[in-house]
Amino acid sequence: MSTKKIAVIGGGTMGSGIALTAATHGIDAVIIDISEEQLGRAKSYHEKQCARAVSKERMTQEESAEAIARLSYVTSMAEGSDAGWAVEAATENVDIKKKIFIQMNETFGNDVVLATNTSSISITDLASAIPEAQHRVIGMHFFNPVPVMKLVEVIKGNNTSEETTAATIALSESMGKIPVPANDFAGFVSNRVLMPMINEAFHAWSDGVAEPEDIDSIMKLGCAFPMGPLRLADYIGLDVCRDIMMVMYNGLDKNPKYLPNEKLVALVEAGSLGDKSGQGVYNYEKG
Ligand code: CAA
Repeated sequence: MSTKKIAVIGGGTMGSGIALTAATHGIDAVIIDISEEQLGRAKSYHEKQCARAVSKERMTQEESAEAIARLSYVTSMAEGSDAGWAVEAATENVDIKKKIFIQMNETFGNDVVLATNTSSISITDLASAIPEAQHRVIGMHFFNPVPVMKLVEVIKGNNTSEETTAATIALSESMGKIPVPANDFAGFVSNRVLMPMINEAFHAWSDGVAEPEDIDSIMKLGCAFPMGPLRLADYIGLDVCRDIMMVMYNGLDKNPKYLPNEKLVALVEAGSLGDKSGQGVYNYEKG
């Protein structure tokens, strides 16, 4: 196990944030994504964030150049196979993630930790795709925006080894994060608590309790949330919120309290996914 270089599978919001956080903490990071376009977006995000850090005097020009030099972008997993650590940050879909885990197991050395940034899916279930390497599989759940949010939720599967857990805690700390353990239940702690609150905000909107702006203002001003729950849902992605609710519904005895609100589902089905599509609960097309 070596954390001099990590491989991040998936160059979306979470993957690019994880790679940037590693690079600004002295760790090389290779982003692996089949989409050149996605890699291009990750690269420009990294350049923009480093330039901003310099302009805000949080980094020197030299430190920024060093961080940029630690980042690389490749379209095949084989090109990143020299990494000593791998974290999967792909779409929140169990079948896609299992396929990626099989490929990760074939690609990386047999002492490499195979972590997942899943926000809700059982670690034990994902690890079952690679029975011989289950002891090296662990949940390493980062929060968006990764460079800003302090938490890493660390989730052991039934067969995760103590060595893997200790190494994950150490890596999280070396990336400037605070690791906190949670057990392997659908949604873990973070989304078990957060998503029903977001869902309830949709119910309040649907029932006519208040308009979205007022629901968000009430929660921001009354409960000191940095974003109201509906604004946060757009920021996370409405499709992600729906999918997490469904993982919890299916994984927690089909308890109806985890069924996604109808308005949330209708928005997703209409392609209104939040910030990333320009329209969600709110409209972002004009910035
Ligand atoms: N990447 C890097 N840095 C970012 C960033 C990003 N994407 N977005 C914001 N920042 C930085 C900014 O650069 C700024 O720092 P400096 O001023 O030092 O440059 C700082 O964060 C504050 O940003 P802003 O001034 O632009 O805006 P803000 O004060 O409104 O903060 C926010 C923005 C940090 C996103 C804040 O609104 C917030 O904390 N919102 C809640 C986020 C949250 O709850 N995240 C968890 C979501 S759940 C999840 O991720 C897990 C899951 O499984 C679904």
